[in-house]
Amino acid sequence: MIDTDFDAHERCRWAGRAEAYARSFGRLCAYPAEALLDAAAVRAGRRVIDVGTGPGTVAAAALARGAEVVAVDAEPSMLDAARRAAPGAEVHPAVLPRLPFPPGDFDAAVANFVLNHVGDPAAGLAELRRVVRPGGRIAVTVWPSPHPPLERLWAEAVAAAGVAAPPDLPRLAPERDFPRTEAGLAGLLATAGLADVRCVTLTWAHRTDPEDWWAGPAAGISAIGLMLERQPVAGRERIRREYDRLAAPYRDADGSLALPTAALLASARIR
Ligand SMILES: C[S@@+](CC[C@H](N)C(=O)[O-])C[C@H]1O[C@@H](n2cnc3c(N)ncnc32)[C@H](O)[C@@H]1O
Repeated sequence: MIDTDFDAHERCRWAGRAEAYARSFGRLCAYPAEALLDAAAVRAGRRVIDVGTGPGTVAAAALARGAEVVAVDAEPSMLDAARRAAPGAEVHPAVLPRLPFPPGDFDAAVANFVLNHVGDPAAGLAELRRVVRPGGRIAVTVWPSPHPPLERLWAEAVAAAGVAAPPDLPRLAPERDFPRTEAGLAGLLATAGLADVRCVTLTWAHRTDPEDWWAGPAAGISAIGLMLERQPVAGRERIRREYDRLAAPYRDADGSLALPTAALLASARIR
């Protein structure tokens, strides 16, 4: 069942893209994994659900802590990748805001850069809360706004190339959106009835090969991927040239990029 136009768009954008994601954005999203698991108090013997597991990075890290891990995702190619990365986890298809588990089934729920892909983030969060026992914990990450340099790079390359954004880029309905700030994400958790809400900003430099970083959008991932897909060859080439030019100041001596970025990490306890 598809809940909103935004969710329908998400199902299409991720379809068959696990490999390209793992090469590009997946490495970026791996950074907060340990902090996320700490915030959810995931340790040996705890039963944890990793929602929107993607290629299973967080699930594998939770297994390495000795946790009992269930990993779910809406996208079949991601589930295949997660089975390979986290062979000790139970891996199932499931689409937020509905998880096929009874109330209180888990000690913890984590969702690394997933609520920002759900058409109704508050409903997604309420479902995470439902499947965790009283006293258990939830931890989530999303990207902040205003965007740090890494996220701005794509928009700047598109603008410098003189390419207009497609008018039909899907946006979250305004009444379902929340400010992508520490206060905004903490507010979403507090409104969901969670206790001891904390939100912090993690900052780091994402080190990546420029070709690996380009591979995600080139495969159609994220808004910039959709924009590239809509371009004639000449438009794509212009964006690529601007990407190379604007990324140059972030290049290390070995040619790799070190892109400053940040994430919001929020956690809370179930009452
Ligand atoms: C940015 S990726 C993050 C993947 C992974 N958590 C990581 O850290 O690399 C977003 C993931 O959420 C999944 N996803 C998007 N909407 C979803 C939904 N409504 N329910 C479950 N998974 C969803 C996508 O298929 C994708 O694997």
